[in-house]
Amino acid sequence: MTKPSVPNSEPLCVPCRLAAIAAVVAVLAGGFAYTAGWLTPARLTAPRFINTFEAVAGQPHPGYRRNHAKGLCVAGYFDSNGHGTALSRAAVFAAGRTPVTGRFAVPGGNPSAPDTGSPVRSMALLFELQNGEQWRTGMNSTPVFAVHTPEQFYQQLVAAKPDAATGKPNPATLKAFYDANPETRPFQAWVKAHPPSSSLANAAYYSINAFWFTDSAGDKRAVRWAMVPETPYEPITDAQKTEKNFLAADLDQRLQNGPLRWHLILTAAQPGDPIDDATMQWPDDRQHIDAGTLVIDRSTSQENGTCRDVNFDPTILPTGIRPSNDPLLAARSAAYALSYKRRTLEETLHPAIHQTQKNGGQS
Ligand code: HEM
Repeated sequence: MTKPSVPNSEPLCVPCRLAAIAAVVAVLAGGFAYTAGWLTPARLTAPRFINTFEAVAGQPHPGYRRNHAKGLCVAGYFDSNGHGTALSRAAVFAAGRTPVTGRFAVPGGNPSAPDTGSPVRSMALLFELQNGEQWRTGMNSTPVFAVHTPEQFYQQLVAAKPDAATGKPNPATLKAFYDANPETRPFQAWVKAHPPSSSLANAAYYSINAFWFTDSAGDKRAVRWAMVPETPYEPITDAQKTEKNFLAADLDQRLQNGPLRWHLILTAAQPGDPIDDATMQWPDDRQHIDAGTLVIDRSTSQENGTCRDVNFDPTILPTGIRPSNDPLLAARSAAYALSYKRRTLEETLHPAIHQTQKNGGQS
């Protein structure tokens, strides 16, 4: 039997080895620099987004979310009636109960902003499925978003930066942004026709972005969802318009009288409906499925509550739900992760942060 021949391998010379190591380090450093946006300062990265949220908020607010900073934690459960299984095999849609951690908030990077600063309210939820999976979602109280792409959202953020002299956004700059971006019109029209609700409890909250649902037979449908309140909608009152912090107090008072309920309404797209464009609604006659009831039965301040250290990244989804190609979704995931990283690092370095700022969102 002949021995297999071993190739005559000379060891690499020392300078050659050092050059190879240097080349690997250079490639890795280049990768980091590119990812951080240092090589392409005009590219829209998560740090650029988050730095701009911080700049627009004015002074720093360590330990708080860089957007939707003012909010409160809630908890409860979702009672599924089983009807959602027609669209998705996600375990959360099987009949039964799933515990939920949630957060209500208003947009903006200032945890002490007035509740009237924006017409939008938000609801974020984390469903803890019995099989160990999670479904996280962040919803706004408008069925459409103002813009289609992350780049436009960034430009909108820059246009809304408060003027140093007035402390308010410059109306001419904002108008120029809206004129240059006509896809913002459905959002503007919706907001004009729907005054903000008088309470967090009587608003509907929308996924806005579409997601792919897969049922147990493997069939895929694009779906948007909404949490529709049992509490009838009422518009903000004239008295509330002059108050800075009525939303949290109103919610606490309502919860003292009993739990609050929303219905999870799933809406399935038809072929041709826009899946990747959050500025466009689908026609009203699409199939709607009431998948069950969200029950919220307690609230706590966000400084002490379990929602504080949650990243409600909308791309954390159970089997049976997948993100669509809507470009906002990937940008949201990256921006929320960096906001989360910064705020939790600040909490770790300064553990007393939320004691000293406890009234940041509620006072
Ligand atoms: C490119 C687009 C967007 C960017 C860059 C962005 C950015 C952010 C950031 C940085 C946060 C704070 C996250 C954290 O610290 O946990 C946040 C929160 C939030 N955003 Fe967005 N957002 C975008 C689009 C949207 C859209 C389309 C919706 C509505 C469906 C939305 C709804 C929310 C909600 C509900 C929260 C609060 C979540 C919570 O209570 O923790 N965002 N956003």
